[in-house]
Amino acid sequence: MHNGKARAFTNIALIKYWGKKDQQLILPMNSSLSLTLDAFYTETSVSFSKNYTEDLFYLDGRLQGEKNTQKVARLLNLARKQAGINEHAVVYSQNFVPTAAGLASSSSGLAALAGACNDALELNLSSTELSRFARKGSGSACRSIYGGFAEWQKGDSDQTSYALPVESNHWEDDLAMIFVIVNDKAKKISSRNGMQQTVETSLYYNDWLKAAETDIKTAKKAIANQDFHALGEVIEANCLKMHATTLASTPPFSYWTPDSLKAMNKVYEMRQAGQNCYFTMDAGPNVKVLCPKKDSQKIYDELQKEFSEQQLVLAHAGKGIESLETEV
Ligand code: PMV
Repeated sequence: MHNGKARAFTNIALIKYWGKKDQQLILPMNSSLSLTLDAFYTETSVSFSKNYTEDLFYLDGRLQGEKNTQKVARLLNLARKQAGINEHAVVYSQNFVPTAAGLASSSSGLAALAGACNDALELNLSSTELSRFARKGSGSACRSIYGGFAEWQKGDSDQTSYALPVESNHWEDDLAMIFVIVNDKAKKISSRNGMQQTVETSLYYNDWLKAAETDIKTAKKAIANQDFHALGEVIEANCLKMHATTLASTPPFSYWTPDSLKAMNKVYEMRQAGQNCYFTMDAGPNVKVLCPKKDSQKIYDELQKEFSEQQLVLAHAGKGIESLETEV
């Protein structure tokens, strides 16, 4: 029996990963930059044993069906190959979220699984190797190896595509992110399908790639200068450019709902009134508001005029992946 357990925190992209150039290896079309957060995390344990006859995956206590088990088995297979063993595994994964919002994320989930496999099979992967391994579970997971800011350097091969921490002098500790949960249901178009459709059909896709390259440089400069407004401006614009690609794809689609627009407008209004806040959105309708930590309570209270307490989650910068003691 080989056991391992790890905890990984969710990251939110400030400069988005949007599009794969290799579906199998999960190599991205563009580099991306994220902030790891403390509010949402996943703890995953894995045990490999000769006594198991198939791979089983329990998420939040429930045995998962074929589709979800297959995602997990992709990483299990890679780990088995690397360790030179042929044993099936049982995976227990628990998502920790501060509300019952169902904001589980593939970034923390697949990173925690990668860490648990690394420990169980004593693969002794370096952070870079662990990031590459997690990437093959879900692209965004490669950034959850690190706390604070991380950059996923796109690279052009399995060996060269991984995340690294972004030097920030701990500036992330002065920041906060407020989640505005306007819909907690599973999204209709997964990020995987959404990005594939835009790569293949969006009129704006090439322009997105050009913009993303410039935006990541601007964001890194803003982080180096600890310039909140410069960072806020570029991350909000980057998110809007990503979402613009979906409107210009065939068939056109959007992740936004009327409540997403309500939250975005609220951010504009607060900014006009002199508050420091900018939004970002991923492949779903929820809005995330970046602000300085010292202003977060004021901005939270403002958001509470439009949204209920259950819809709002205040997060701060989170840590990188951690190994945990296994129970057996
Ligand atoms: O790695 P995935 O399949 O969770 O895709 C993530 C895509 C976005 O959240 C929209 C952007 C990102 O960089 O996280």
